[in-house]
Amino acid sequence: MQAITITRPDDWHLHLRDGEMLRCVLPDSARRFARAIVMPNLAPPVTTTELALAYRRRILEALPGGLDFEPLMTLYLTDDTPPEEVHAARESGRVHAVKWYPAGATTNSAAGVTDIGRCMETLAALAETGMPLLVHGEVTDPEVDVFDRERVFIERLLAPLLERLPGLKVVLEHVTTREGVEFVRGAGGRVAATLTAHHLLLNRNALFAGGLRPHHYCLPVLKRERHREALVEAAVSGDPKFFLGTDSAPHPRSAKESACGCAGIYTAHAAIELYAEVFEQAGVLDRLEGFASLHGAAFYALPPNRGTLTLRRDAWTVPEEVPCGGQRLVPFRAGEPVQWRIAGDDRG
Ligand code: DOR
Ligand code: ZN
Repeated sequence: MQAITITRPDDWHLHLRDGEMLRCVLPDSARRFARAIVMPNLAPPVTTTELALAYRRRILEALPGGLDFEPLMTLYLTDDTPPEEVHAARESGRVHAVKWYPAGATTNSAAGVTDIGRCMETLAALAETGMPLLVHGEVTDPEVDVFDRERVFIERLLAPLLERLPGLKVVLEHVTTREGVEFVRGAGGRVAATLTAHHLLLNRNALFAGGLRPHHYCLPVLKRERHREALVEAAVSGDPKFFLGTDSAPHPRSAKESACGCAGIYTAHAAIELYAEVFEQAGVLDRLEGFASLHGAAFYALPPNRGTLTLRRDAWTVPEEVPCGGQRLVPFRAGEPVQWRIAGDDRG
């Protein structure tokens, strides 16, 4: 097949940042996706509905003319988020989820949750609203090997939480392990997972291919091949519990190429095209639409988008870097080909 047309897709996990970086990266997402779940890990974090609504306005102001794009906002959960904040979020109609970062797990997570036991009332309120809890599923215990942090998180924290709150909807974000996929499959209809393009395309060898590769460093860190295979199986299976979430996470080149480089891979410039490669390799391009355009909306109880996006199999080379204000950004596959490109869209 040389071209495919799908219902306009959504990105159910995206870092848009703020200020100059926001203006650089937003057009890449808005050209491809009609909506995105926007992560709240700004500095300072988006902990209230008021902050989320102000951030939403900044995103819309940064949107180039002619591009329609709906930012679906999220709240950053802290030990002290009151239940009323969750109800206010729901009533706003603009906030669609609450994000649980274990304190210290990743970028700008210092204000995250130190003990989920302290959030029970707030999570019970969240369950009442029907909005999902979005989970960065990694323990922060330094005793736990970095490659085991997702599996241990599920055992120690996620499984007990789901038992305690049977009404809570959960998205295990950027699932990276076979155990994670199996857990989600077995957990009933209220638990789903997002999958990134980079975890579907790379295993952990990519971190060390010929030398240290900081642009392949993200959290959760890339895993071994048997895990990548399980992720691809889940993505292409047609199971509605699995859907697209890029976790595109831009950092300036200088912050990535550093003695202590930041976690995050920028994929927004080629996101849907990269997923098309995965589905094509699996021989099921016809299932891309469910994964990219239908499953996530259904889980969030939102209608699918109107309009379509058409992709054509026609390779192009990703630029080595992208200027971004005074900074530079190194996109995924820099200097290398991507097999698919956007051929056009009908914005409904
Ligand atoms: O690689 C990552 N980058 N993982 C995260 O969880 C956060 C993200 C970021 O904000 O840079
Ligand atoms: Zn993320």
